[in-house]
Amino acid sequence: MPETLAIHGGDKVRTRPFTSGNKVGRDELKELVDVIYHGTLNRWGGTKVVAFEEEFAEIHGAEYAIASTSGTSAIHVAVGMINPTPGDEIITGPITDMGSIVPILYQGAIPIFAECAEDTFNMDPADIEAKITDRTVAIMAIHLFGNPCDMTAIMDIARRHNLPVIEDCSQAHLSEHDGRLVGTIGDIGCFSLQQSKHITCGDGGITITDNDEFGMRGRLFMDKGWHRAQYGPRVYEVFGPNYRMNELSGAVALAQTRRMHEITETRRARGDLLVELLADNPHVRPQKLLDGCKHTYWQFGMRVEEDAPFTADEFAKALQAEGVSCGAHYIGKPIFLCHEALRNRRLFGDSRYPFDMGDREVVYDETTCPRTQDVLDRMVQPICPTQFMPEDEVRDIARAIRKVSEGLGQ
Ligand SMILES: Cc1ncc(COP(=O)(O)O)c(C=O)c1O
Repeated sequence: MPETLAIHGGDKVRTRPFTSGNKVGRDELKELVDVIYHGTLNRWGGTKVVAFEEEFAEIHGAEYAIASTSGTSAIHVAVGMINPTPGDEIITGPITDMGSIVPILYQGAIPIFAECAEDTFNMDPADIEAKITDRTVAIMAIHLFGNPCDMTAIMDIARRHNLPVIEDCSQAHLSEHDGRLVGTIGDIGCFSLQQSKHITCGDGGITITDNDEFGMRGRLFMDKGWHRAQYGPRVYEVFGPNYRMNELSGAVALAQTRRMHEITETRRARGDLLVELLADNPHVRPQKLLDGCKHTYWQFGMRVEEDAPFTADEFAKALQAEGVSCGAHYIGKPIFLCHEALRNRRLFGDSRYPFDMGDREVVYDETTCPRTQDVLDRMVQPICPTQFMPEDEVRDIARAIRKVSEGLGQ
């Protein structure tokens, strides 16, 4: 006999809150105190942002690392490196934060969306290739929830079509694909240090590359295009915004970077344990991890199988009743349907820019990515094990998921 579900009046699996913790502490404080004593809060003349860039670059074996103010700006720096002509197309994924898309549009490029696979929730390489046109100038892969995309297939497509690849690693710090860190497989990697991310300075971002042309251009783009090394009258070499990270953020980002391995390894161990405990769970499956890949679990994504006798909402409500928080559908709709202005392709006043610069009519509606809508309809996100949770709490999450999957399946 399955146990009575809490939603039907049974006992809850979990009656106490899960352990949480403070992401920042002494190490961050020490770096911040240095900054205050030094008195320079701007990155120019300071030491912390530069040290953060150097240490982040070293961890990734990257030639260039450019700190900025958010994950969105890190992606904007990447798009600025590519320097599209208005109307050019960048192929990306429809399950993401608006921060992946806004930079493409601000640089006058048009985002084209490839469908996501139902098991990995990541972009389907075959659909990326099908969406390439002669206006395509880049592919932006998004490693959703910390789960690496199929970078072997994506890089193969990109090289055959001579396209640079941007990796949006905002949710995937130190995830690995075939022994390589995400962000180092494509041509440019972008990371967010927003509060909820693996490492944080409240808001921040960093862009890495090995390509000299991209690296040099990105450095200038991040700082209004100002070539500061030059003596004499000011020289602006690139058209760009001010995305300079300040020293206070840099101090925290530096301390966090030094703990990045420890944080991501603990999250990976907890997340992998949860996957293992759910190996034969009925009706609801964890996000598939490709062979040779390592996840760092920013979120714990699961999918309710097509023939399950319950919906994602029913599952999420029943799990919540067990004392285990659970979301359903992540962003709800493909990202291009999450914003009326984007759906209507009216972003800049009354103009149709940049859509009027393209060679063809691009439509964002329910027919654009139907498979992705189905993926979102069936997606659930039980609480993700964090670096603060002891193993027994992960076992409670697994027990509750199994209880609900079996109980609702009766
Ligand atoms: C996949 C992805 N890309 C980009 C961003 C934008 O990052 P930020 O919020 O730091 O601007 C986020 C933030 O949640 C994200 O999850």
